[in-house]
Amino acid sequence: MKIIVLGKNGQLGQCLTQQLSLLEVESLTTPFTSQLFAKSDCDLSNFHQVREMFLSHQPNVVINAAAYTAVDTAEGDVETADLINHKAVAHLAQLCQEFDSVLIHVSTDYVFDGRGNTPYFEHAPTAPQGAYGRTKLLGEQAITASQCKHIMIRTAWIFSEHGSNFLKTMLRLGGERAQISVVDDQLGSPTYAQDLARAIIGTLPHIASGTCPWGMYHYAGDSVVSWFEFAQHIFATAKSLGLKTPDKLLAIPTSEYPTPAPRPAYSALSSKLFTQSFAIEASDWRSGINQTLGKLTQ
Ligand SMILES: NC(=O)c1ccc[n+]([C@@H]2O[C@H](COP(=O)([O-])OP(=O)(O)OC[C@H]3O[C@@H](n4cnc5c(N)ncnc54)[C@H](OP(=O)(O)O)[C@@H]3O)[C@@H](O)[C@H]2O)c1
Repeated sequence: MKIIVLGKNGQLGQCLTQQLSLLEVESLTTPFTSQLFAKSDCDLSNFHQVREMFLSHQPNVVINAAAYTAVDTAEGDVETADLINHKAVAHLAQLCQEFDSVLIHVSTDYVFDGRGNTPYFEHAPTAPQGAYGRTKLLGEQAITASQCKHIMIRTAWIFSEHGSNFLKTMLRLGGERAQISVVDDQLGSPTYAQDLARAIIGTLPHIASGTCPWGMYHYAGDSVVSWFEFAQHIFATAKSLGLKTPDKLLAIPTSEYPTPAPRPAYSALSSKLFTQSFAIEASDWRSGINQTLGKLTQ
């Protein structure tokens, strides 16, 4: 099985890179090779380059971990967000259909309007509130329309030892400030990127055996918290490791922390269908915090 990963330098991309390289050493029941591409190797918006990549590698599975993820910037740069999250994804899906490759694509909780109050299931009505969510939803719809074999995985609130994310921002601010304010009226399900990478890799044996149930899935954290509660857990763990933490953590409403793009008030995702289909549990994000801080303080 030939696997291609796009977006290898992102948070998820780096986790996939690490785990696939370990797997290659350990070997799977189905032998596989993986090729990992950064934007500089294969730019999704360069349709000619992406086609050439298919022609030279003939992948069985394409994992798309690349995206335009700058949620606020997307509001003023809709064209670029649409090119990468929608048009380039539509092109990728067409190529997967043409080359009979399986597409594993990652999408987002931002396709929902955030008015729910229980974790969203896969078939809940979508109603994105901002440009990022709208372009990601158009990407999802293009994959479905292409009829390529696919697994789409919506996830939420990704954090890890890699890249920029809420956990790392909290740690930085905790080292600089005595007091930090964090919104407590936006709820979601934090997802450790290594767990998401493991979940994606966990679908590969199903693909190899021809028993994979194609379609849309959610994979995210195993419980629901506000950003404020997430920060409390981060600082409690950081403190236990002797890291500097703020003296005071203040809970504030979203109205006191305005952002260019609206954020869903509730965007927790249910991973139940993914767990039933692939026997992989939702992300244990509390353990993910421990693991991330452990790696960052090594
Ligand atoms: N982060 C979250 O909280 C979150 C939540 C829900 C869903 N998601 C989804 O999860 C997936 C992974 O997110 P992430 O946090 O790992 O994202 P990330 O860290 O921002 O990484 C995205 C990667 O995409 C690459 N990329 C951007 N434009 C590209 C292009 N034109 N061609 C090829 N590569 C391109 C970037 O490369 P450069 O670094 O070189 O620009 C970067 O390495 C995305 O689909 C995202 O929409 C993320």
